Amino acid sequence: PASLAFQVIPSEHARSAEQRDAILASELGFGKHFTDHMVAIQWNKAQGWHAAKVCAYGPLSLDPAASVLHYGQEIFEGIKAYRHADGSIWTFRPEANGARLQRSAARLALPQLPVAEFTESLRQLVAIDHAWVPSAPESSLYFRPFMIATEAFLGVRAAQAAGYYVIASPAGAYFAKGVAPVSIWLSEDFARAAKGGTGAAKCGGNYAASLLPQQEAYAQGCSQVLFLDPVEGKYLEELGGMNVFLVYKDGRIVTPELSGSILEGITRSSILQLARDRGLKVEERKVSIDEWKTGVASGEITEVFACGTAAVVTPIGELKGKDFAVGDINAPAGEVTMSLRQELTDIQYGRLPDRHGWLVRL
Ligand code: COI
Repeated sequence: PASLAFQVIPSEHARSAEQRDAILASELGFGKHFTDHMVAIQWNKAQGWHAAKVCAYGPLSLDPAASVLHYGQEIFEGIKAYRHADGSIWTFRPEANGARLQRSAARLALPQLPVAEFTESLRQLVAIDHAWVPSAPESSLYFRPFMIATEAFLGVRAAQAAGYYVIASPAGAYFAKGVAPVSIWLSEDFARAAKGGTGAAKCGGNYAASLLPQQEAYAQGCSQVLFLDPVEGKYLEELGGMNVFLVYKDGRIVTPELSGSILEGITRSSILQLARDRGLKVEERKVSIDEWKTGVASGEITEVFACGTAAVVTPIGELKGKDFAVGDINAPAGEVTMSLRQELTDIQYGRLPDRHGWLVRL
């Protein structure tokens, strides 16, 4: 059970109900609006986790020598709250996100927040900002928990002080065009992670490394970038911030195995479970880029999709590289893709029974 005592300091600048509702009624998009409050918990070597509070959303005050600013000692999570038809608010598999935050912390030499405190931090934020959980179809409140090294010390070693924070953002579709198929750009010059590196951790540095290739993708008219394995440059890893799945004509669902440099997505694992429940043959294995190209060209691969907490399940219409393009961006989204998306969101929004016990009421 959670044991930290949270001090709650309501914001003096909280927006009015009218201002909030105007934001919630607008085109939300992703990550643009933030609620009135945030959670902050401090850690240091001597005291452990302490000074837990819920306070006004606003700028952090950091010593300019804080190690996060110099050596990138930072990790984060992404998890959502969903409003059900009866008004109740639920989150999805928070123990999985809390456990992943611990694994990321271990890799980045940051302190481990107990999973119960992680879930409690979401509950504390929703207790005060519940009115920010949108009710429009397929909208949610996206939580961004993160941890930074705050010790003022320029020596290169694990910081002895850190802060854990949670901010929250009412969110609609991650991609500007909603669930329409997206184009993917194959990054041939850059890798996202290295063998033995931090690819499996959810740390800011991995996303920083994806930004230049992501710019290349935009320049090519694509909305995401696909990375190959950092050793042979041959096998699929993941997109800039999502996992990838291929659907075969014979009914198989295939996704790259966890290589040590791929982020272990919670949506990825939920999709694998839903596919298994349907009796589909599921394969987690190495998938070469040639298998994708030739499979789509021959019709053996009928659908490809991306998945993640932010993007849920998004069809991939087309894959482009320097000297090739496969797929058809104008083809309709695949049936298997859309029905897996539907089933997952039906569970998250309480429209289908939660047969795996994935939902936790906040
Ligand atoms: C998520 O899907 O929650 C992610 O973290 C991906 C991206 C928005 C960083």
